[in-house]
Amino acid sequence: MNVPFVDLNRQFQPLMPVIQAAMTSIIERCAFINGPEVKEFEEHMARWMDIPGVCGVSNGTHAIYLTLKALGIGEGDEVITVPNTAFPTAEAINLSGADVVFADIAPGSYNLDPDAVERAITSKTKAVIAVHLYGIPADMDAFMNLAKRYKLFILEDVAQAQGARYKGKRAGTIGTAGCFSFFPSKNLGTFGDGGAVASGDAELLKKVRMLANHGRIEKYDHLILGTNSRLDTIKAAQLSICLDHLDEWNQSRRKIAALYDELLEHYEEIIRPGVLENCEAVWHLYVIRCRKRDKLMKFLNSRGVKTGLHYPVPLHRQPAYEYLKMGEGSFPRAEEACREILSLPMFPMMTEKEVETVVKAIAQFLESKNENS
Ligand SMILES: Cc1ncc(COP(=O)(O)O)c(C=O)c1O
Repeated sequence: MNVPFVDLNRQFQPLMPVIQAAMTSIIERCAFINGPEVKEFEEHMARWMDIPGVCGVSNGTHAIYLTLKALGIGEGDEVITVPNTAFPTAEAINLSGADVVFADIAPGSYNLDPDAVERAITSKTKAVIAVHLYGIPADMDAFMNLAKRYKLFILEDVAQAQGARYKGKRAGTIGTAGCFSFFPSKNLGTFGDGGAVASGDAELLKKVRMLANHGRIEKYDHLILGTNSRLDTIKAAQLSICLDHLDEWNQSRRKIAALYDELLEHYEEIIRPGVLENCEAVWHLYVIRCRKRDKLMKFLNSRGVKTGLHYPVPLHRQPAYEYLKMGEGSFPRAEEACREILSLPMFPMMTEKEVETVVKAIAQFLESKNENS
């Protein structure tokens, strides 16, 4: 039995008649840009998150970039984040004009280490971007504490954690702002690129909205210089329909993660992902660690089990960040994780049989020690 890494068709097909009807209506009205569905989606998402406001934007990279710009962060400022995240988290900092400063991940976690962040703070530090990587909430109390002590903004990168909870609160409602991506394979994904910024700060959201729409409030009133980073009406309508199913999809991901946890528990060579106490992960990815990762990956592939690497190269070792002159050993925990991580198949409509097939293949690999050591 082949097991895909994700299968978006299984998720979207049952909803297609409703989505297609909503899209047809928008096409008939030619309401492509800033149609009423955009505001409806923003209000829907704000209610779902229990936060005063949400602003749709064109993608997750711009959600971060526009938030930094709206906060007045730019040239001469420093923003701290993790080196083991998707490239855009850091790229958005560069887009704003600020300098990227990396800090290592916490022991036993894939998320930013508050102690490492504190050591990286300088007089130029203006913000920290806490990434809830793989859908596992980061240590928000510790970051909010740093924010208070050092007068910093905390951005939550919620691209992989839509619906996750930190001590009862939705991820993205705790820091200064939550920045979302609706890339198709995210827990809430759209038919192309999309993103949003959520915040309790109405002035900040107003500024993000202006920046995303050529710096204007009214059609020909350009108050500041901005860009074009709007969420398309068609995507907003589809996202609103899918948002009604997100909690149920996340619940299904939690069941799959629990089954993986249970079935992998007996294998010492496999380290399962951990979640902080009183937090609820939404398992955008289920990522294990294994010293023989490359061989395991190859073996699973040969058995028809598709896997992924998120991410194989820590960002400070990417050619684009060579100018930072951060050699091997700069962030040992993140570097070690990059060598050992393996993302197993995970999607809401994955069957128990598929999870069992993945684990059986892992067991076969571990049992054939001579071949694989
Ligand atoms: C953690 C993280 N941050 C930011 C982004 C950027 O989002 P987008 O691809 O919508 O620009 C992504 C998506 O790839 C992501 O996974």
